[in-house]
Amino acid sequence: MKLFQPYSSNALQLKNRIVMAPMTRARNPDGIPNEMNARYYQQRAAAGLIVTEGTAISDTAKGVLHIPGLYTSQQVEGWKLVTRAVHEQGSVIFTQLWHVGRVSHTSIQPNGAAPVGASDIPAATSYAWGYDESGKESFVNCSIPRALTTPEVRQVVHDFANAARNAIAAGFDGVELHGANGYLIEQFLNPFVNNRTDEYGGTIENRARFLLEAIDACIAEIGAAKTAVRLTPYGGMHEMPHYEELEATYAYLAKELQKRNIAFIHLMDQKSRGSFALPEDFLTRFRNNYNGVIILAGGLDKPRSEQLINEGLIDLAGFGEPFIANPDLVARLQNDWPLTPPDRNLHYGGAEYGYTSYSVYQ
Ligand code: PHB
Repeated sequence: MKLFQPYSSNALQLKNRIVMAPMTRARNPDGIPNEMNARYYQQRAAAGLIVTEGTAISDTAKGVLHIPGLYTSQQVEGWKLVTRAVHEQGSVIFTQLWHVGRVSHTSIQPNGAAPVGASDIPAATSYAWGYDESGKESFVNCSIPRALTTPEVRQVVHDFANAARNAIAAGFDGVELHGANGYLIEQFLNPFVNNRTDEYGGTIENRARFLLEAIDACIAEIGAAKTAVRLTPYGGMHEMPHYEELEATYAYLAKELQKRNIAFIHLMDQKSRGSFALPEDFLTRFRNNYNGVIILAGGLDKPRSEQLINEGLIDLAGFGEPFIANPDLVARLQNDWPLTPPDRNLHYGGAEYGYTSYSVYQ
């Protein structure tokens, strides 16, 4: 099966086509990666490629407590433990650069300020993980955001590039910009959230400008072969209503990203997260505009991954949640061994238990 064979593109040399997808695990109260995180990723490094959990690019980028960052020298030093541990296993590791935008709460923003977004339109029924009124850790309704000014948008572009430079200093093989799941970049793409009147709002080109400037800034820092992006066309997470120009927006992005020759585009089907499914025929249309490396994640299994690879619609298959309780997921898929179900209460926060404690198949 192609899934288990080595894969090579201009940017990537992988021992197989299985990708560990990014997953928030919130085990870094101080934001600094440590030996426990290194052990977790090393246990899962049979994957050809690992994309880490979303990593904050600045102190306004966070919408969840206890996530790691990539904007201080201590964080860079901490990530070196992780990249070294993964490279020892012959795997390749990208980090996911994350700015949540409006999907955040005043209790976890610097000085208790409003989260920043593409506009002041809130994600009114979505949740961040911060502190409630009594100071207790809790899911809290997202706060009303403040629209970034035009110069501030350029500063966030700069923050992405700065985090990309830090990622390379920390030993990562590249970065994946988080352009998915209703976070800041997608807030700019969506015309129901982006009501801006500057050059970052209005037309498809303007709504895509923030993403493409962030990509170009990362390319200028670390090169196109180390730059990638995650997108969720037709997703709905965190209040992303579908819009008339949705298909045209992603066709435009595919063509623009094609020109830039980046490492990969990582698509996610949000059906696995209780939101809208990626339409069946979308991958065919997307492939017509983009012949670079495509990863798909979200609810895949072995037969469907192999089929999509054989049809040329995707190149690499991403698995998220199955990797949590199955550190040896690659071997289990290869041998058709049963999968251990995860304990969802242990996904976020805590320590080793439910993180590095899951064992290989006996
Ligand atoms: C989550 O914490 O559930 C989460 C984080 C980042 C995503 C999606 C979901 O992109």
